[in-house]
Amino acid sequence: MIILGIESSCDETAAALVTGDRQVLAHRLLGQEAAHAPFGGVVPEIAARAHVEALEPLIVAALADAKLTLADVDAIAATAGPGLIGGVMVGLVTGKALAHAAGKPLIAVNHLEGHALSPRLSDPDLEFPYLLLLVSGGHCQLLLVEGVGAYRRLATTIDDAAGEAFDKTAKLLGLGFPGGPAVERAAALGNPKAVPLPRPLKGSAEPHFSFAGLKSAVARVVGQYSPEDIAASFQAAVVDCLIDRTTKALRTSHGATALVVAGGVAANTAVRTALQGLATAHGLRFVAPPLWLCTDNAAMIGWAGAERFAAGLTDPLDVAARPRWPL
Ligand code: KG4
Ligand code: ZN
Repeated sequence: MIILGIESSCDETAAALVTGDRQVLAHRLLGQEAAHAPFGGVVPEIAARAHVEALEPLIVAALADAKLTLADVDAIAATAGPGLIGGVMVGLVTGKALAHAAGKPLIAVNHLEGHALSPRLSDPDLEFPYLLLLVSGGHCQLLLVEGVGAYRRLATTIDDAAGEAFDKTAKLLGLGFPGGPAVERAAALGNPKAVPLPRPLKGSAEPHFSFAGLKSAVARVVGQYSPEDIAASFQAAVVDCLIDRTTKALRTSHGATALVVAGGVAANTAVRTALQGLATAHGLRFVAPPLWLCTDNAAMIGWAGAERFAAGLTDPLDVAARPRWPL
């Protein structure tokens, strides 16, 4: 089984060819950092136009890399939301057009499902159910992944996502965009105990997240400490919150075979190391996809498509693009 995956929900345009037995035959990705950097964040209209220009050549290149044509593909999986609606529409409409022209089934993939199932692409031994910490620029959730299409949301953020907090902190510290990797690099040179910062919701009964207060606290100390010390202390605070909340969720996620992390913030070494420790302390396996599979990509959309296709789940060509789409 060969699936063409298409991703365009934020500021990465990507196309991939993925097989049902976990081979990534091709993956092409074009980031738009340079286009958005002058604005310090993703500008939706610029993103949508960039997807229009980039997507078709990327699909053609991915097919050529894999020495395939559309006729060899079994189904086309495109992100149908959630995300910036202009970009989502570009990818979904392209997927629909290709599916119609080639007479192939369409699979409308929830971007969050792409992140949620991505660890099963890199780890063939990862079985359902698993506790997933999904930490990206737009989301911060704890999910019990019980099967394809069966996601029990245990917690979510009541304000900002973890990646958003990284991006805003980077902006406050003048570290540039995208913020997560920049904060991580600065944090490596700082003292994580130098700046007293809050741990919002730490110890609360529900396992939800909150990062807005942390960001405001960072804004108040800018100029009083070195950017490196602020970055290190901020990262330590985020890690503390993620670990505290995940520990709480572990108490109710009975039967979980593994602790899994996915999404852009899962690329952060401090986050991965702390979660690895938590999993070990609970006698659970720890699974984190390789870094390229954590940040947005089309292989995870192709893989989610493969899992859905194997379960007999396809979508009609009039399926709608959705800016909001909870799992
Ligand atoms: O999953 P993703 O690529 O896109 C969304 O679906 O949101 O996640 C992007 C987010 C951004 O906020 C980015 O700053 C953050 O992931 N990120 C990181 C790191 N790499 C990316 N945050 C912390 N440390 C990193 N190394
Ligand atoms: Zn994402």
